[in-house]
Amino acid sequence: MKNTTEALMWRYATKKFDPSKKLSTEQLDTILEALRLSASSYGLQPWKFIVVTNPEIRAKLRAAAWNQAQITDASQLIVLAVQKNVDAAYVDRFVATVAKVKNVPVDALKGYADMMKGSASSRTPEGVKEWSSRQVYIALGTALTAAAVSGIDACPMEGFDTKQFDDILGLEKLGLESRVLLPVGFRAADDESAQSPKVRFSKGEVVIEVK
Ligand SMILES: Cc1cc2nc3c(=O)[nH]c(=O)nc-3n(C[C@H](O)[C@H](O)[C@H](O)COP(=O)(O)O)c2cc1C
Repeated sequence: MKNTTEALMWRYATKKFDPSKKLSTEQLDTILEALRLSASSYGLQPWKFIVVTNPEIRAKLRAAAWNQAQITDASQLIVLAVQKNVDAAYVDRFVATVAKVKNVPVDALKGYADMMKGSASSRTPEGVKEWSSRQVYIALGTALTAAAVSGIDACPMEGFDTKQFDDILGLEKLGLESRVLLPVGFRAADDESAQSPKVRFSKGEVVIEVK
C-alpha cells in the first residue's frame, strides 16, 4: 500500500503491459469493487463493467481500437459501459434496493423516486447517455486511484470505436453502450512510458483560492 500521492506519482497510462503477468482474483476484485463502490448522481449507478479475458474477442477489439496493444496484453480488459435508458422502471429497481438495504418501506421513498424520475424524464435519450457517461467517468477515476494505491497498472482509454465494440460484445441488446476502457495488469519492464516525467500544470496554475 502506497500513500495516495506516492501512488498517483507511481501510476501512469501504461502503454506496454507484460502479457505473462496476471492479476490475482483478489487484485481483480479490488478494481471491480472500486468501480462498484464509486459515487454517482443520486446513487443511480447507470453503468455496467464488462471484464473481457477471451483472447479471440480481445484480438477483435484491438482491431477496433487503433491496434493499441494494451487491449490484448493487459491481464484483463474492463469495458466501462453506460446504461442507455435510465427510465422509471430503472429508478423503481434502484429504489427497491435502497428500501431493502436501509430497511425502509418503498412508499417512504416516493418523493425521492419521483424526483429521480422527473430528472430522468426531463432529458433526451442523448442527454441520458451524456449524464450516464459523466457517472462512468467518476467510476473510471475511482478505479484508477484504487489500482495505483494497490500497485496495479492500468491505462484509461477512449481511443476505440464504440459501435464496433458494442457489436463485438453484444451490448446493444443489453441496453448498453461502451464508453471508456480500462485494461489492467502489470507494466512490462521495458515500457519506456514508465520513465516519462509527469506532465502537469503547477498547483498555482490549476488551483484558484477564494478566501
Ligand atoms: C479518458 C482518457 C482517455 C485516454 N485514452 C487513451 C488511449 O486511448 N490510449 C492511450 O494510450 N492513452 C490514453 N489515455 C492516457 C492519457 O494520455 C494519459 O492519462 C495522460 O497523458 C496523462 O499521463 P499519465 O496518465 O501517464 O500520468 C487516456 C486518458 C484518459 C483519462
